[in-house]
Amino acid sequence: MFRTEGSEPVKGSMLSLTIEAILDFAGERRGHFRLIESEVFSHDAYGTPRELFVGFFAVIADCLRDILGEQWSTEIDAAWHKLLRDIEAIVLPQKHLEDAKT
Ligand code: HEM
Repeated sequence: MFRTEGSEPVKGSMLSLTIEAILDFAGERRGHFRLIESEVFSHDAYGTPRELFVGFFAVIADCLRDILGEQWSTEIDAAWHKLLRDIEAIVLPQKHLEDAKT
């Protein structure tokens, strides 16, 4: 689903901007976190399914867990799960509205 040509720099840029957005979202919320909301719409246009878009954040969490190994505490785990739920609520609002009804 990435570009076939010139994809590597775009992937690198996406990862770096996503990490900045996550740090801002989990911290001061000075503005970088808004990238998440706005990129949802540009990725709709690129044809990236929203579930896959959300999955990108979960992959980052999984990679960090692998790197941290035993240092990945229950607090860190809980904080990431909350973060991923909060991001999902932004990216998949319809799903959350439907969940709330049931
Ligand atoms: C697996 C999930 C994702 C896929 C398949 C995907 C795919 C793409 C594609 C096809 C482009 C257009 C590249 C081009 O032709 O110029 C792009 C650009 C971009 N994406 Fe994603 N994306 C994903 C997740 C994300 C996430 C989670 C974020 C951040 C919240 C993000 C941020 C961006 C940004 C900022 C650009 C513009 C990059 C630049 O040109 O500097 N993407 N993405």
